[in-house]
Amino acid sequence: MSETAKIIYDGKEYELPVITGTENEKAIDIGSLRQMSGLITLDYGYKNTGATSSKITFLDGEKGILKYRGYGIEELAEKSSFIEVAYLLIFGDLPNQDQLERFEGAIRNNRMVHEDYKRILGGFPSRSHPMGVLSSLVTSLTAFFPESLDPNRSPEGVNLSIVRILAKMPTFAAWTYKHKIGHPVNYPSSKEDYCSNLLHMMFKQPGADYEVDPVIANALDKLLILHADHEQNCSTSTVRITGSSHGSLYTSVSAGINALWGPLHGGANMEVINTLENIREDGGDTKKWMDKAKDKDDPFRLMGFGHRVYKNFDPRARIIKKAADDVLDKLGVNDPVLDIAKGLERVALEDEYFVERKLYPNVDFYSGIIYRALGIPVDMFTVLFALGRLPGWIAQWKEMRENKEPIGRPRQVYTGETNRTYVPLNQR
Ligand code: CMC
Repeated sequence: MSETAKIIYDGKEYELPVITGTENEKAIDIGSLRQMSGLITLDYGYKNTGATSSKITFLDGEKGILKYRGYGIEELAEKSSFIEVAYLLIFGDLPNQDQLERFEGAIRNNRMVHEDYKRILGGFPSRSHPMGVLSSLVTSLTAFFPESLDPNRSPEGVNLSIVRILAKMPTFAAWTYKHKIGHPVNYPSSKEDYCSNLLHMMFKQPGADYEVDPVIANALDKLLILHADHEQNCSTSTVRITGSSHGSLYTSVSAGINALWGPLHGGANMEVINTLENIREDGGDTKKWMDKAKDKDDPFRLMGFGHRVYKNFDPRARIIKKAADDVLDKLGVNDPVLDIAKGLERVALEDEYFVERKLYPNVDFYSGIIYRALGIPVDMFTVLFALGRLPGWIAQWKEMRENKEPIGRPRQVYTGETNRTYVPLNQR
């Protein structure tokens, strides 16, 4: 007999089914609770609420496990490529040679964007934050490909939208950067792999040669794999909920970019470097900054520490910390900020406040150090996170639509005024 859970309220007992996932995760299905009892559940920040069931990503925050479609993140980061991981996340299995070549080829061939994008970019002041520009450019794909708005699009049509956004996001990212620094844009090249093409578009100067350093391209590829999906986080839930109104892939991803931008989510990678720089300029006293983070009257938080689900370690942070050492070593970069980061980690891991609250370095703590060593400017860090997360957003949007999930619409407990009578302006 399948498991059930009971809720007792007002002398009555309500029995609800318990759902078990393939990794033995348990959930009480409260779908019929309101109908039976008039009750809803209340869970600020969805800390304990499953919004869907999904076959894409599994993570166990206590044990520090992260798997995409059943493959451990450590193995994928070591042996796979970002494009292969994108295919895995979106279509469910690793591609064979032919499938990979066709997928990669289609992405290479769709990298160009309409020439009018130069005029659109030109309308943004150069001080614009790249995340705002990126989300606008992604939304504007609906103007160039209006057929993408059709909620009944054929699977082939949906696949074309998927290929287009995967192909064009690096072009948007690089062009956003070039516009910001006032340089002419570089056109994409169909000859280069995903990351080399991005680096080429970002760093080639007019009239000068630019050779992509394979150390840099490989490090970037690994970082994108590590960011590729993370189940129902803030931005991914935003993508799913936007898509649940039958919003298009492009508008849903654009919404996800905006959700990712905030400093508590993807924007943390920028904040980490800013904090480490501040500590360095302030003389490198890590304890002073730790005390600031612990002071409840001070809004300062140690960015790059803590995670909603990881409570022992973030497996991505472990891989990235090692990669940061390797990259800096191979490139011969000596970044004093890396020493400050390691010092801060050492102090935090022994600090009662941090230990009690299970605050460990997360994915964003060391990624900024690698991005910096690769020559990527700080305000582009979150754009790179968005590029990495794109296959996850696509996979989650596609799964939600294929499952024909209902429109997302939470309920609330109303706590405002009741029954007030309108008072004319001259009597208030
Ligand atoms: N520095 C100092 N104190 C912290 C920090 C921090 N970075 N993170 C959490 N705390 C404290 C918090 O003040 C609270 O203390 P108390 O119980 O005394 O009130 C306790 O730890 C629990 O924190 P919370 O904010 O209730 O936890 P949450 O699950 O709602 O938030 C978090 C998770 C990631 C938003 C939070 O840890 C944080 O703000 N971290 C810094 C920002 C950051 O690095 N974000 C990137 C996350 S990884 C990339 C991604 O997937 O988005």
